[in-house]
Amino acid sequence: MLRFALRVVQQRNEIMHTSSLPVKHFSEKSFKKPRMKVHPNVKILQSQGLGNRKFCEKILWSSEIFLNSAPFNPDNDLIQWGDTLSIDGNSYQISQFKYVLMNKPAGYETSHKPSRHRSVFELLPPHYLERGIQAAGRLDVDTTGLLLFSDDGQFIHRIISGKQGIKKEVEKVYVMALDTPLLDGQIDQLLNGVELQEEHDTEWVKASRAERLDDGRLRMGITTGKYHQVKRMLVAVGNHVTTLHRESVGPYRLPDDLAPGQWIEFDPTA
Ligand code: URA
Repeated sequence: MLRFALRVVQQRNEIMHTSSLPVKHFSEKSFKKPRMKVHPNVKILQSQGLGNRKFCEKILWSSEIFLNSAPFNPDNDLIQWGDTLSIDGNSYQISQFKYVLMNKPAGYETSHKPSRHRSVFELLPPHYLERGIQAAGRLDVDTTGLLLFSDDGQFIHRIISGKQGIKKEVEKVYVMALDTPLLDGQIDQLLNGVELQEEHDTEWVKASRAERLDDGRLRMGITTGKYHQVKRMLVAVGNHVTTLHRESVGPYRLPDDLAPGQWIEFDPTA
């Protein structure tokens, strides 16, 4: 009996070792996990920064949703760019890119990792950050006014590089208060150009416009974006900026009724 059992074991081992059939192991690279097809409505919600796949599935199938004000059926209706979605009472404009215009308050840094103050990104909803929205340029912590944001890299590049369309420059217009009365000679100097010390050399920059508002206030435009450029230009002509506010960037103007810290979405093609 024992001999019979040993023979069976031996035969089984022989079969296993001599079999010409390849033995597949689950850890082999050839093993592919079947992919679950992601529903297009889930994909579009994910692209809006609303959460990961699981979370967006949960939103779709367990929230009260209206698509362009009509009741929404996640299995039959398809969400498209340009649609307005209301999810449990919160409204979302579904778009490939977001363009946001903020009235930056004083005391906020234009940085995702602020060093000593709060970040302007705290003022935006988390789903904007989740989809990768960035500031198109920076304002100093004490500067107020128009700050643009987007997740459209080409738009950001156009604003930062200062080229809008074919060689058209993006003018940024600031209003500032000065600590000594403005002299006519200082306005001429700003328009003709002043020399700024850069890291390795000096550079000439000039104002694209300079308009006296009253003795202590100036409206000035620039088309370049050097570090602390406006403040350094005023120091170069013997004055000093005490408050600085940005009114416009290229064709985009800060709406009069947008309070500090508030923001709105805008359409750059409009
Ligand atoms: N120039 C400055 O000096 N500061 C700003 O915030 C923007 C332009």
